[in-house]
Amino acid sequence: MGNGKLTMSDETQNRDGKELSISPRHVAMIMDGNGRWARQRGLPRLAGHEAGTETVRRVMNYCRDAGVRYLTLYAFSTENWSRPLEEVTGLMTLLGTFIRKHEEELIEKQVRLRVIGNRADIPAPLMAEIERIERTTAHFERQVIIALSYSGRSELVRAVRKIAERVRDGSLAPESVDEGVVAAHLDAPDVPDPDLIVRTSGEMRVSNFLLWQCAYSEFHVTPVLWPDFGEKDFTEALEAFAKRSRRFGGV
Ligand code: FPP
Repeated sequence: MGNGKLTMSDETQNRDGKELSISPRHVAMIMDGNGRWARQRGLPRLAGHEAGTETVRRVMNYCRDAGVRYLTLYAFSTENWSRPLEEVTGLMTLLGTFIRKHEEELIEKQVRLRVIGNRADIPAPLMAEIERIERTTAHFERQVIIALSYSGRSELVRAVRKIAERVRDGSLAPESVDEGVVAAHLDAPDVPDPDLIVRTSGEMRVSNFLLWQCAYSEFHVTPVLWPDFGEKDFTEALEAFAKRSRRFGGV
C-alpha cells in the first residue's frame, strides 16, 4: 500500500444495476461504534464487536458487487491493546472465528486475505492461521486487507527501520531515499492508496490509520454505528465519492 501512485477508478454499476460514474478501486473502513451499539442495547461491548463481524461480511459483499478491488478494514489498532484484557481476548477470538468461518467463502469468491500491522504482536496460533490463509489466497486479485495491531505511525517506523537496515548493509544510498522508497517499505507496498476512507459513528478523526496512504484519499463520515452500517449507507458513501472532484493537489 502507498506506492505513491494515484489510483485509477473504474466505471461500474451498483447492485440494482444503477450507474455509478466513478467507483473507488480501494475503500478503507474505520469501523467505529461497536461499543456504543452494545451499550444502547444494554449488552456487553463484545456483543457489539460480534455484531460488527456480521457487518464485515456484508461490506465484503457490497464491495464485490460494486467492483471495489481492495477493501481495508481497521480491525485492531496498536492503541487497542490498552483495552480491558477480556475485550482484547474476545476480539482476537472473534477474528479467528471469522477467518475460519469464511475461509471457504474467500476461496470460492476468489478473495485474497492479507494483514497489515505488527505481526509480532498477534497471538502465535491466530497469526499462523492468518498466514496459512494468506498463502492459500495469495494468487487472487481482489483483496481484503485487515489492519491488525496497526497504526500509521508504527507502520512508518517499521518502514524507516527496513530502510535504515538497507543503508547500513550498503544496498541503498541515503540520497536515494525518496517517496517511492518509503512507499516500497510499507506493509503492503503493492496495494494502491485508498481512494475512499469511510468512518462510521460520526467521529471526525483519522485515528492513526493509513497516515502515508491517505494523502489524497476522500473521506466520508457517517453517523451510523458500524453494526448498523448497511447497503444504503455503503451506496451513500460511493455516491458521495462519485460527486467529489479529485484534483490530487492540481487545479
Ligand atoms: C471500534 O469500535 C471497533 C473496534 C476496535 C474493533 C472492530 C472489530 C470488528 C468489527 C470485529 C472483527 C473484525 C473483522 C475484520 C472480522 P469501538 O469499540 O471503539 O466502539 P465505541 O467507540 O462505540 O466504543
